[in-house]
Amino acid sequence: MTEETHVQGPTIRPRRLRRTPALRRMVAETHVVPSSLVLPVFIRESLSDPHPISSMPGVVQHSRDSLKRAVAEAAELGLGGVMLFGIPEHKDATGSGALDPAGVLNLAITDVVAEVGDQLTVMSDLCLDEFTDHGHCGLLTPDGEVDNDQTLAAYAEMALAQAAAGVDMVGPSGMMDGQVAVVRKALDDAGHSHVSVLAYSAKYASAFFGPFREAVDSSLVGDRRTYQQDPANALEGVREVLLDVAEGADLVMVKPALPYLDVVRRVRDAVDVPVAAYNVSGEYAMLEAAAANGWIDREAAILETLTSIRRAGADVILTYWASEAARLLRA
Ligand code: PBG
Repeated sequence: MTEETHVQGPTIRPRRLRRTPALRRMVAETHVVPSSLVLPVFIRESLSDPHPISSMPGVVQHSRDSLKRAVAEAAELGLGGVMLFGIPEHKDATGSGALDPAGVLNLAITDVVAEVGDQLTVMSDLCLDEFTDHGHCGLLTPDGEVDNDQTLAAYAEMALAQAAAGVDMVGPSGMMDGQVAVVRKALDDAGHSHVSVLAYSAKYASAFFGPFREAVDSSLVGDRRTYQQDPANALEGVREVLLDVAEGADLVMVKPALPYLDVVRRVRDAVDVPVAAYNVSGEYAMLEAAAANGWIDREAAILETLTSIRRAGADVILTYWASEAARLLRA
């Protein structure tokens, strides 16, 4: 190449830091680590073998035995925790199975604490929707409206049942106004001040919960738009989060994750408690369906998904891929 034809290249070259795997690893801004991942698990009453969930390939409703194996594996992989959802045999208008110490969720808490309580944070969903025959997250008035304040009293009792079963952290997910304050007070008054609260603070009325409804055999007819948030609203999500922090939430959550990464970022910038994001059933199902068709590189897409949620600002991610991602990260 002669002097005349030499092209003067750029002095500043960002690509220099992308040249080798070691360089890329060294300058990575975001890390997904197993300890920041929480595995949601479903346990169904009176099941002798795990039962597949067709819209969530690879995810099952657990029996008592298969649940123990799943949480033992989660502990071995170094996950941060597990979030338990119970599916009762019988539902009723008040969701009484949620309060019963021998109810499916409370028994599962005791089982899991006995199995891995010293290694994992054991968390439980604190909501009535799996236990009510109408499928709503709260109690209904005679004309079928969700009754916020009656529901709060039920959540307080549910928190006590879960604390008595040994839970580390409760996850109030029903989006009733004042739920965090009521749960915090009930726990404290009963001597459970060590039990922490993961508040589902900015929870949106989302189509991406679809497969979850199958996962928990939901009875819901209609929608949850009078209590879950309108997808159009981000400022309102921050407002909900700030209220929950003021009410005593130890961690706050944004849910779903991927369609709301802007909300995750706003929330991360607005509070000084850890922020969780829930990579929900529909997000899982979409990627799995594309992978099953050979349309996407499944493992790379899983890790990219989790990285994007962390990059948006989530400290903790609830994801059905938690155990698998931990295995991928180890490899
Ligand atoms: C309500 C609850 C829901 C999910 C977690 N907790 C469903 C809903 O609000 O309708 C959804 C989780 C998912 O889609 O993965 N207890």
